[in-house]
Amino acid sequence: MLKRLFYKSRRFYDDDFDWESYTADSYERRLRGDVEPLYKAISDEGDLSFDAVTGQVSVRGEALHPNVQLILETIGQLAPESVHEVGCGGGDHVAHAARLYPGIRVTGGDRGHTQLSLALSRHPKLAGRIGVQDITMPFSHQWPRADLVYSQAVIMHIHTAVSHFVALANMVRQARDHVLLVENVQCHNFVADLRALAAGGHLDWEQVHLYRVRGSTGAQGILLSRRELDRPVLASDAELRRDERVSPRRLKRSDEDSARALTGWRKAWPKGPEGGTE
Ligand SMILES: C[S@@+](CC[C@H](N)C(=O)[O-])C[C@H]1O[C@@H](n2cnc3c(N)ncnc32)[C@H](O)[C@@H]1O
Repeated sequence: MLKRLFYKSRRFYDDDFDWESYTADSYERRLRGDVEPLYKAISDEGDLSFDAVTGQVSVRGEALHPNVQLILETIGQLAPESVHEVGCGGGDHVAHAARLYPGIRVTGGDRGHTQLSLALSRHPKLAGRIGVQDITMPFSHQWPRADLVYSQAVIMHIHTAVSHFVALANMVRQARDHVLLVENVQCHNFVADLRALAAGGHLDWEQVHLYRVRGSTGAQGILLSRRELDRPVLASDAELRRDERVSPRRLKRSDEDSARALTGWRKAWPKGPEGGTE
């Protein structure tokens, strides 16, 4: 138990977890204890179907977690040719997506090789579709590009230095058309941070449109689109947080994370002891 409490031992590291030991320390236990008893984690042939008219996914048997419902419905509505999940963990979402949309090329990346091994043991058919990827590294041209890139419960846990800014910019660069973030919206100022990245010239797309998306079972997400869409425009983080129970600790950390950003290229800077221009 004590070992579990103190598992985040590396000092330079400020993410919520130590990703090197995350599978054994926490993830597998939560998956088996908190997710599997309540939701469909693994789908079989014919368990899932998408209705293009309503834009909804129907499920045979137990329900999908609302976040997963949202991800699968957004994929169906946007009808991309390829989809990539960043931080795919135990692989359940990519496996559902591959099962539901056999015509879409589905891939997943994760920085944890034990996570990927777990994914393969749960979903042997993911062999060849998943690989190691650290989304906080400088962009790699080896990463599979996809029309839609998404994450669920990944960026919200990244708090080391300016890593979550790097991750967001990388996701946009990896995606041809859309990025979907299904994350705890109190853990970062996602809207403000994305706006700052866009204004500072850090995003690969010429235009970035932000929308609030909802799944049919209640989950919400942030959809970034290269082109304008006929969807509710997302104007602020407050809008996303309106129905949430406020966590002052999380909001404070979000502000601290945002404040570390130094975006763009500034030809004028405040005067200091060594001079400068204003
Ligand atoms: C809370 S788990 C969520 C896993 C999966 N998305 C799910 O919903 O079950 C966070 C995942 O993000 C991965 N991760 C953390 N930092 C990452 C990074 N820099 N690049 C890629 N994956 C990362 C972890 O290894 C872990 O699998």
